[in-house]
Amino acid sequence: MINIAIDGPSGAGKSTIGKMLAARLGITYLDTGAMYRAVALYVVSKGVSPLDEKAVIPLLDEITISFSDTPERNILLNGEDVSTAIRRHDISKAASDVSKIPAVRMFLVAMQRRIAAESDVVLDGRDITSYVLPDAKFKFFLTADVEERARRRFEELRAKGADIDYETVLADIKDRDHNDSHRAFAPLTKTEDSVLIDSTRLSADQVAEVITDYVLGKKKKGQE
Ligand code: DC
Repeated sequence: MINIAIDGPSGAGKSTIGKMLAARLGITYLDTGAMYRAVALYVVSKGVSPLDEKAVIPLLDEITISFSDTPERNILLNGEDVSTAIRRHDISKAASDVSKIPAVRMFLVAMQRRIAAESDVVLDGRDITSYVLPDAKFKFFLTADVEERARRRFEELRAKGADIDYETVLADIKDRDHNDSHRAFAPLTKTEDSVLIDSTRLSADQVAEVITDYVLGKKKKGQE
């Protein structure tokens, strides 16, 4: 199986690149952040705090996550397409909070490993290279300056009609960077064997090109 693992902080462009790569290589794309967001959406919809570990754990038994058979592979929470709802601004922070709970991670990691064992897949997230698939053949750490990541997220939210200012988005991204890199279990980290790609001054096409070159063997680690 071809497994391409991409980790990096919020707004680095992982999902844009993941989708582009999957289309170019004709393989599946798995957005693991969407899975944490779906759990967060369910928890919030039940009026439970995503930080309340004791209250969150029993809810996991009520959650089934799957993906639509359409080319978009939209995420389904108990059969319902939640691909738009999980992008809500409040769900970003809730997902980061819920992802600190080891039981939530075990629940989703088991699913991610099963999908990766059964199909050629590009996965993006925070712990794919370090924890979910440490033996993946292709491992990348995609990042960009925090201001650039906030600018991208701000434009994305504004395009969707969200009423939010840049400073709020920047503060939230910094907060999530800290949250995701400092949690006790499987925090965001760049593994030694991952290729570092800084997308601050690169277009999505350029990043996809660089990664494709590695996957097709035109570029080797150490040439970044
Ligand atoms: O990539 P994203 O912004 O959609 O992810 C939402 C949150 O989920 C992120 O703040 C941290 C968490 N996450 C994680 O802990 N591990 C992953 N593999 C993917 C996401």
